[in-house]
Amino acid sequence: MERYPIADSADLAARFPSDFRWGAATASYQIEGGAREGGRGVSIWDTFSHTPGRVLGGDTGDVACDHYHRWREDIAIMRELGLDTYRLSLAWPRFQPTADGGWNRGGTDFYRPLLEGLREAGISPLVTLYHWDLPQWLEDRGGWAGRETPQRFGDYAAHVAAELGDLVDTWSTVNEPWTSAYLGYGFGVHAPGRSDPAAALAAVHHLNLGHGLAARAIRAELGDSAKVSAALNLMALRPADPDSDADREAVRRLDALDNRAFTGPMLDGAYPEDLIADTAHVTDWSFVHDGDVDTAHVRLDLLGVNYYTTTTVRALGEGEAAIDDPRGQDMAQCRVATEGIDCVPQAGEVTAMGWLVDPAGLRDTLVDLSRRYPDLPLVIMENGAAYDDEVVDGSVPDLDRTSYYSQHLSAVADARDAGADVRGYCAWSLLDNFEWSWGYHKRFGIVRVDYATQERLIKGSARWYAEVIAACH
Ligand code: FCB
Repeated sequence: MERYPIADSADLAARFPSDFRWGAATASYQIEGGAREGGRGVSIWDTFSHTPGRVLGGDTGDVACDHYHRWREDIAIMRELGLDTYRLSLAWPRFQPTADGGWNRGGTDFYRPLLEGLREAGISPLVTLYHWDLPQWLEDRGGWAGRETPQRFGDYAAHVAAELGDLVDTWSTVNEPWTSAYLGYGFGVHAPGRSDPAAALAAVHHLNLGHGLAARAIRAELGDSAKVSAALNLMALRPADPDSDADREAVRRLDALDNRAFTGPMLDGAYPEDLIADTAHVTDWSFVHDGDVDTAHVRLDLLGVNYYTTTTVRALGEGEAAIDDPRGQDMAQCRVATEGIDCVPQAGEVTAMGWLVDPAGLRDTLVDLSRRYPDLPLVIMENGAAYDDEVVDGSVPDLDRTSYYSQHLSAVADARDAGADVRGYCAWSLLDNFEWSWGYHKRFGIVRVDYATQERLIKGSARWYAEVIAACH
């Protein structure tokens, strides 16, 4: 097989309709910096990253890509690449910095010109309300493990809809609630760094509830025509041995925890019964109050899908220990009520995160979703790969990343051919940025950032992506 299978950009573009939306994504804490500017309050990621030992190399988002000051330059890059859509997130602590709940003008003052700048450049803003930078004062009152946070999230959604709604094309409520709940409250590797399985499941519910409250607040403010979505990182799970009942049962359990814990309330209007039964030794789910699930079950205009890799799942035998996989293939292991389950590394090409390059998982995820929810259009809100890029003579020849994009876009086209209603695609990420607990050690950008000088350098993958976009339109 070719080392780097890369489709011809025109051939690939021909597989998409001319109104397909091409974009790139970022998140506030990962790129903005300006951590103390404009009256911004402290977020859980400020606290976490400033706690020794939490983030590789002690990196923080204090400066990040300095997008807070350089957003004009970044919009110019997006325009040069021909992007239709830019998926960004708003930093909640810029709007509600302190516990008194008062609204800080600094939030609107930063995002309004940015959104206007995008519109002037012909780029539609897709705005995520929550990409993990919870105000610290809310965490101090229980964070997503408690009920105040979803209520406040609804207030915040109403506020930003009123302030910015005229400039936003599509809203996305929560980004990857799986990650917030399990990695933040169960596994402790993300902010707020708690390791409490019951709190993690409470967080699952409160993120679902917050999603519903925020979606409803946006529509109450802007009317029914406001476009609302959420971004889920549904796990593409495979049994290690498809003939093993035990492995298939392990997949069922993880599917309940990883996927149906979110699609259940959000899209089906109920928590799966098997999830409640499987987790009975952790919690009695009494944090689910009457009416909550109806609130979470809100009509969506589209569903965001974040996809990186597949996960192969195996049932452990009696007394057998899970393999701690240094390559990171156990990223779907939510570590909450997963006793007796292991995620096993698979042979094949991996990215710098150790994640298997497996585009078929994206196709399968999209096709499966479209069969289950035939009236729900899909947008890939994140897909991309980290590699150890090199700068060669002033450019970044990142063929491995270009190949990753080529293979995954081909998988999206395959899913469309199989009937999936996929309307758009956002590369993760526009810029190299603060990759959470990995700090600046993992580069996901299609544009390189030199953190010493803040110089941007368009990588080969971005040039190829721009060719696909141009050929498509
Ligand atoms: C996703 C996150 C995004 C980025 C990518 C690599 O889980 O939503 O912020 O970190 O992974």
